[in-house]
Amino acid sequence: MGELAKGAADILRARIAERGPISFSEFVEIALYDPEWGYYSRVAVGRDFVTSPRTSPAFGHLLGRFVADAWHALDRPNPFFVAEFAAGDGTLGADILAWLSAREPGCAAATRYLAVDRQAVSDASGPLFRVRGDAAHPPTNPFDGVVLSNELFDALPFDRIVSTELGLRQTMVDCLGRDLVSRVGPAVTDAILRHFNALAIRPSIGQLLDVSVVAPQVYRALARSLRRGFIVTIDYGAEATDLYGSRHFAGTARGYSRHAAVDDLLVRPGEQDLTSHVDFTTLRRVGEEAGAQTVWSGAQADFLRALDLAKWIERLDPRHLSHVDYHNARFGALELVNPSGTGRFRVLVQSRGAPGRLDRLV
Ligand SMILES: C[S@@+](CC[C@H](N)C(=O)[O-])C[C@H]1O[C@@H](n2cnc3c(N)ncnc32)[C@H](O)[C@@H]1O
Repeated sequence: MGELAKGAADILRARIAERGPISFSEFVEIALYDPEWGYYSRVAVGRDFVTSPRTSPAFGHLLGRFVADAWHALDRPNPFFVAEFAAGDGTLGADILAWLSAREPGCAAATRYLAVDRQAVSDASGPLFRVRGDAAHPPTNPFDGVVLSNELFDALPFDRIVSTELGLRQTMVDCLGRDLVSRVGPAVTDAILRHFNALAIRPSIGQLLDVSVVAPQVYRALARSLRRGFIVTIDYGAEATDLYGSRHFAGTARGYSRHAAVDDLLVRPGEQDLTSHVDFTTLRRVGEEAGAQTVWSGAQADFLRALDLAKWIERLDPRHLSHVDYHNARFGALELVNPSGTGRFRVLVQSRGAPGRLDRLV
């Protein structure tokens, strides 16, 4: 590149000038993860969207209860690993460990918590072992424990496919002057075709289908990283028939900037978050092919209620909190089950080499 890049848009323009139009997933990869100008390299999580761990510590505390249940179900192994992927700043892990220390000290003592993120700075000094790494290549030998992720899969690069009379076509990103524009490109790759052939869907002509071919590869790698244990995946998404049905004719991909959804995914690359809904049908199937069985699948609201969110709220003691702190804590916890917010996220729990059920999740 002749000139010094001043942002992700310059990197993208240079790439397109050099090689011609790029696939949508290559666009997303640069816009989100360019080491210098990508969104996640520059913007702190929380500026444009709020995730459950940052909404309320109840999220981590209830997952702490899940982790303890898993430890008991596996006959209390020591060491017991919890590997969280897309761990961000480690908030969730800190809350899980705090709950375990207070309520399940035996489990806390056995637990080795690995917080892995593409953008993390590796740090082994705290109770959380923070590792910079890619979920597609879990940095461990197969272990006994729990693999956990919250909003990993929606943050993976995705392609935009358009259904045409001539079959499924890729959407490519090109330049028109200095603007980035999308164009209907060549037929989809074999990997994408195989992906859709495995799903019983019939898109209409003109329909957009957002798909991450990386997602099943990542899920397979995570499932295989477990010798005995549970995989918990929390994200927004749905079954494939819904994601690729008429309700989502315009696709599910969105940009997020300053807590507002943005429809134009190509504007301000590196400045807005880009996401697409997760296909839970495929994740479940891939897990089952890797020898896992489905323990539980449903909405985040039901998952957290099963782990006794009501009791968590009941235990807030207004005598030890200011009026404002008490109401904020209560409100934050209730937000986690809000059906028009993260309460409608999906949770998939699978087990590998471990019991196919947990008492609380029936
Ligand atoms: C939406 S944020 C979620 C962060 C955190 N889990 C939370 O709930 O606040 C997505 C995170 O996924 C990380 N990420 C994306 N792809 C990844 C990969 N292949 N392996 C590990 N982390 C990844 C990003 O760096 C980012 O921190």
